[in-house]
Order: sequence, then C-alpha cells, then structure tokens
Amino acid sequence: MPQFNETELTAAVIKSFEEVEDPRVKYLMEELVKSLHDYVRRTNLSFGEWEYAIDFLTRVGQKCTPSRQEFILLSDVLGVSMLVDAVNHREREGATETTVLGPFYVGEHKAMPHGTDISPDLSGERMFVQGRVTDLAGKPLANVPVDVWHADDDGWYDSQKPDYETQGPSSRGRFITGADGRFFFRTILPCSYPIPTDGPVGQMIIALRRHPMRPAHVHFLVNAPGHEPLVTHVFVEGDKYIDSDVVFGVKNELISKVEKRNDPVMPDGKPAPAPWYLMSYDFRLKPGQGVAPKPMMAVTEDA
Ligand code: BEZ
Ligand code: FE
Repeated sequence: MPQFNETELTAAVIKSFEEVEDPRVKYLMEELVKSLHDYVRRTNLSFGEWEYAIDFLTRVGQKCTPSRQEFILLSDVLGVSMLVDAVNHREREGATETTVLGPFYVGEHKAMPHGTDISPDLSGERMFVQGRVTDLAGKPLANVPVDVWHADDDGWYDSQKPDYETQGPSSRGRFITGADGRFFFRTILPCSYPIPTDGPVGQMIIALRRHPMRPAHVHFLVNAPGHEPLVTHVFVEGDKYIDSDVVFGVKNELISKVEKRNDPVMPDGKPAPAPWYLMSYDFRLKPGQGVAPKPMMAVTEDA
C-alpha cells in the first residue's frame, strides 16, 4: 500500500503519468508537478495561502472575456511571457529582437494604403512611422504584412473602450511592404500607460508595491513566408519607465530615438502640422518557420 506522504507523493503523481503516450506531454506534466510540489514543500504553504491562490486564479479566469485576457497579463507581469520568448529565441544571429505580444492584439487588422493615418480622430502629437523589412543579409522583403497597434494619448487601447464595438478599430492596422521592403503610416505619438488595474492582476501589482506602467511603444508583428514571425515593439527613447517596464519587455535594441521635426512636409511629401515626430525602424527577419499569433476576436477562415 503506497504511503502518500510528503516525500513519496511527488513520485506517486509522476508514476500516474506512466501511460501518457506523447513524451513531450509526459515530460511537461512531470516537471510541472515537481515544481509545484517543491514550491509547497519549500514554502510550507498553509491552507489559507493555498485557498487564497485558488481564489486568485479563479478571479483571473473570471475576468477573461473574448477581448480581455487576464491570464496573459498575469504571465506578463510575472516575467513568464518574456522567459518563454527568451528560451524560444536564443539564437538571433542579427535578427531584430523580440518582445511580448501583450493582450491587446485584437480585432481585424485590415490592409491599408501606405501613409494612412491610423489615429485620425485621436488627440495627440502627430507621428510619421517608417520601416523597412529585410532578411539577415539586408535584402528587402516585399509583400510582407506588418501589423501595428498602440495605445492612445490617454493610455488606452481601442478594445478597452466601451464604444469599441460601434466605433471600430483605432491606432491599429496592417501595411504590406513594397518592393523595397518599406512601409509607412501616420498616427499619434504614444505615451506610457498602465496595464489594466481593474482586475486581479492589477490588484496584485499594487499589493506588491510595483507600479503598473509600460513605457511608450508601438507594437509590430511582421509575418514573412520562410521567416520566423517577428513579434516586437519599438520603444520611445527617453520614456520615464524605460528601465522599469512592468512586463520586463524592453531590450536596448528596440529603443528608438523618436525625433521631433518641424519640416513642413512628412517623408512622403504631404503637408505636416508642425511640430511632428518621426519614428524609423528597420526589421531584420530570421529564416525559419513558425505560426504568427492571430488577433483575438478576429474572424478568420479557420474560425
Ligand atoms: C501591451 O503592450 O499592450 C501590453 C503588454 C503586456 C501587458 C499589458 C499590455
Ligand atoms: Fe502595448
């Protein structure tokens, strides 16, 4: 008769996975149980603490909706998302650095003509964004969809606003690179913003005496056939929170000097309201495969 005591329990649970056929699933389950059991033993977890943890995770799940992903947020603020990213991108070989996807990649990202203003109705300082997509040798990659999204001047993503359903997307779009690998669009200069603090993850951040801020950035997802999908941000140099991002997502290479300009025209020759800002960034893609994440709530062919 097995004795399910403190020392033998872990081995007993691992033995219960004996019949699992997929070796990877078996391995992941074994390691998960070992880590969880170690945590309970090392911390002498009390019943009250265990109940608190169950209640917390329940609240995280209850906060999730088709457009709100509280579990991704939890993973982000605990550094798990960046760790998964790091172990999956150990060899960059000169390719652009990656960072978190975040929970606001939602809705349809419809292709738009270069130069489109993706934030026409928003207040804020105007910004021109130009980029180029190449392979590691610097050869331009044409016809590549580049999805972009960012927060507004008050720190909200469109999908966080109550009128999202009726107003449609804002500060998000898709641009297809030209023969020279280039794309460009207009928008507003994003500002630093807090991650949502109206749920259990935000409450946890506050209780841990951490600030909830992310430094100003624009999200990019570049998905070229024959290359690893690139999920990244470009951060605005000089932001107050650049050294203390609540989701640990900043990498030096992703910080861009966003220049304040007074030229009467923007780089595409169209009139500019002075002053305006210029964000320029070149994206180098690594050869390989991979499936790019799909926006939440998007209606896709396979949906
Ligand atoms: C974002 O940049 O959209 C984001 C990333 C992680 C957590 C919350 C927001
Ligand atoms: Fe963001």
